[in-house]
Amino acid sequence: MNRLALTLYSAAFSIMLLLTPALRAETGAEAWLRYARLDGNASRTYQNFPAKAVVLGDSALLRSAREELFCGISGMLTKSLHIEPNLPPDAAVVLGAFPSVQKIIPGLHPPADLGEDAFWLTNARVHGVRHLIITAQNDRGVLYGVFSLLSKIAQHQPVFGLNELQQPYARVRWIDQWDNLDGTIERGYAGRSIFFENGAVRADLGRAADYARLLASVGINGCAINNVNADPRLLRDDFLPQLARVAKIFRLWGVQLAISVDLASPKTGAGLDTFDPADPRVAAWWRNKVEQIYAAIPDFGGLVIKADSEDRLGPSFYGRTQADAANVLARPLQSRGGIVFYRAFVYNHHLDWRDAKNDRAKAAYDYFHPLDGKFENNVIIQIKHGPIDFQTREPVSPLFSGLEHTNQAIELQITQEYTGQQRHLCFLIPMWKEVLDFDLRANDKHSPVMDAVAGTTFHRPAGGFVGVANLGLDDNWLAHPLAMANLYGFARLAWNPNLSVSNIAQEWTTLTFGSDPQVVKTISSMLLSSWHTYESYTGPLGAQTLTDILGSHYGPGIESSEENGWGQWHRADHNGIGMDRTVASGTGFVGQYWPQAAQMYESLATTPDELLLFFHHVPYTYLLHNGKTVLQHIYDSHYEGAQATADYVRQWQTLRSRIDDQRYAAVLTRLEYQAGHAIVWRDAICNWFLRTSGIPDALGRVGRHPSRFEAEDMQLTDYSPVEVIPWENASAGQAIECRSSQPCTATFKPNLAAGRYRIDTQYFDLNDGEAKFRLYVLNQSGSRLVDEWTANDHLPSAKIGGDTSTRHCTFAVLLAPQDEVRIEGIPDRSDHAALDYVEISSVLDPTGMRRTRSHAANAPRTRFSKKANPRIGCSHSSNQ
Ligand code: GCU
Repeated sequence: MNRLALTLYSAAFSIMLLLTPALRAETGAEAWLRYARLDGNASRTYQNFPAKAVVLGDSALLRSAREELFCGISGMLTKSLHIEPNLPPDAAVVLGAFPSVQKIIPGLHPPADLGEDAFWLTNARVHGVRHLIITAQNDRGVLYGVFSLLSKIAQHQPVFGLNELQQPYARVRWIDQWDNLDGTIERGYAGRSIFFENGAVRADLGRAADYARLLASVGINGCAINNVNADPRLLRDDFLPQLARVAKIFRLWGVQLAISVDLASPKTGAGLDTFDPADPRVAAWWRNKVEQIYAAIPDFGGLVIKADSEDRLGPSFYGRTQADAANVLARPLQSRGGIVFYRAFVYNHHLDWRDAKNDRAKAAYDYFHPLDGKFENNVIIQIKHGPIDFQTREPVSPLFSGLEHTNQAIELQITQEYTGQQRHLCFLIPMWKEVLDFDLRANDKHSPVMDAVAGTTFHRPAGGFVGVANLGLDDNWLAHPLAMANLYGFARLAWNPNLSVSNIAQEWTTLTFGSDPQVVKTISSMLLSSWHTYESYTGPLGAQTLTDILGSHYGPGIESSEENGWGQWHRADHNGIGMDRTVASGTGFVGQYWPQAAQMYESLATTPDELLLFFHHVPYTYLLHNGKTVLQHIYDSHYEGAQATADYVRQWQTLRSRIDDQRYAAVLTRLEYQAGHAIVWRDAICNWFLRTSGIPDALGRVGRHPSRFEAEDMQLTDYSPVEVIPWENASAGQAIECRSSQPCTATFKPNLAAGRYRIDTQYFDLNDGEAKFRLYVLNQSGSRLVDEWTANDHLPSAKIGGDTSTRHCTFAVLLAPQDEVRIEGIPDRSDHAALDYVEISSVLDPTGMRRTRSHAANAPRTRFSKKANPRIGCSHSSNQ
């Protein structure tokens, strides 16, 4: 290109940049309800969208529906709808429950029965004018219909000529929050509670109102707002008016309020000397309490119970059954339409690990199957999807086919407790879809889990889906901007478990980031592969998440599951790994499935590779169906998984300028962090198995890091070496820490040919203090500061180890053969600026640009100010 052409080219490029509309910075607070203005072409498709609306009725739900419609249409189509008292002579959107719509359009008949919460989007011609109709059996259905219509417009789908009837798959589509009264959230990773603070319900429930709207927009109809490890104070008389405030907000969106209760409540603080469910005084206490609740909250949804589990007291204290306990609460709720959600998560966490027949996986079935048919009709047994506890991969719980005369619901975990805690990308919908599709072969008939929980397999009156969400006060609700895809996807599957996983991913991406095809394609494909990626570096072949189960449930902690009573055993030893759960030689867990499923898992040959170690103990040399040995698979999958996370960074970078800067940067920061932490996982697991088995990696990668410089081998000033426990969570088992009040330094000479290098510094970011690091290059002409960063992330540990090990990358550093590299660590409080190693590679940043981005400097959590919570979307009147 000659100089003139180049000048013209760059002038044209600059003009193009100027003309490209800047993308509005977004926090993510609006989630999938952005109602972003449609661009020219798309908005032309809707130019004939009616300018008028007729709303038949004035319930709170219909008012929400109307305001939402107005909000969405004005946002996306920049059109203000006029409200009309009667059907106008020109086109209108008509909203209302079916009987009122039929009164003004008598010829209208739905194609099938409209059940509870179902809606019908259709159109009808009256005096030659075509109207758009949103109708349902109940007002909540009308609200759902409005959200569905708006979602179609946001996805540029046709809305004229619609004739679509949507029925929810199950009656129960609930969310559980594990919020504590002090404002913390058990297993919550996105800030403090939107409901509670300082032992009371928050004064400002603005975020709770926004949450209810989000839930309603995807058909969620109930929410239990407090921790299953319930605080008895919630049932105090003076607390009920506070709960009533939350219920009032929820009511505007058709979300029923529920609470978790402690079964020991009649005794703890309530004056009785017992909580024995068989004691008439206890029954009377619950009756009275339920009366009080309904007096304050007439549409109260129900009670969630966790008992005889993880130190929660339960009926076994008095030799009673779980049915005795459930029923004593269920009876007074019955006449009010309330439900008892009784959790099947009942198990003994003091199992004798030396006894090879013991098996925590058997607990739920062992407790509940013998009680089948003994529960009141308004009890739902809430069953975690797997028999252990939300691991990266588990088989489905056999209890789904073990309750034929009792209602059941599936419990899925949206909050990523064992799947990366919203620091790692892990889209869980493919996992849940596999679970819901699994054929239990109950009574030797086709019986997918989705039908068992919906109540159709066993003809039960109630059932459905419960998701543990744990959204918090962080602006974007779940901390990782892509994690909301899990809440969205959960709700979509609860509405219709037959939806395709890729459709859900595309829908969510379009609604959240817009319809740019490259954005939709890239993000959807990242989402769709992310569970498999996470699994590949954290939980091989059904061995469960190899995390620190005694602590954070976050970083690697391979041995933490063994030799204790918690029962999350993988039984890895010198020769092999896996739990033998067969009937023939193991714990007998397999026998809890119906015969066809049991046969598949009983035999090594037919057990799918991905669940092999859940069901069988095998030598490391056992050959998988894919032809690899178990151990080589473990090595390979960890390398592939870590590589895939690095690829996510590159894929995301292709979206720069196609996404607003704020969300672009927030996701990039998390993906870069994940790519670093996946290496920590990879090395911990591979090194542990190498040392334990003594079998080398066929590809020679494990334990060999030619471009790594161990911190403890550097020339140290004031830094001192420290053993890391467990050893596999630091390279070579050691790190260095700075326990001086002065900065410490670690210096080494890489002896590399002159060139540009990428320097990765692996350090430990402890949560009590903000250590600083500086990276220098030293040579004869002096020292050159090339990077600096602060260890200010909030990782879930105050200890050097797998939870806190963090990578900082410095790109394109110029090094000459004699140069030395020095890291200076400046400690702060208990954060001793600990370092593990430095890795130097000649790989340039793919953008070819010098970047010094700190993984630790995660975009600070943007929370709403303490003064007032700014609201999202349209200003709905959420009276509190
Ligand atoms: C897990 C989780 C606990 C939670 C429990 C439950 O064990 O770690 O925090 O209370 O599940 O579901 O009850």
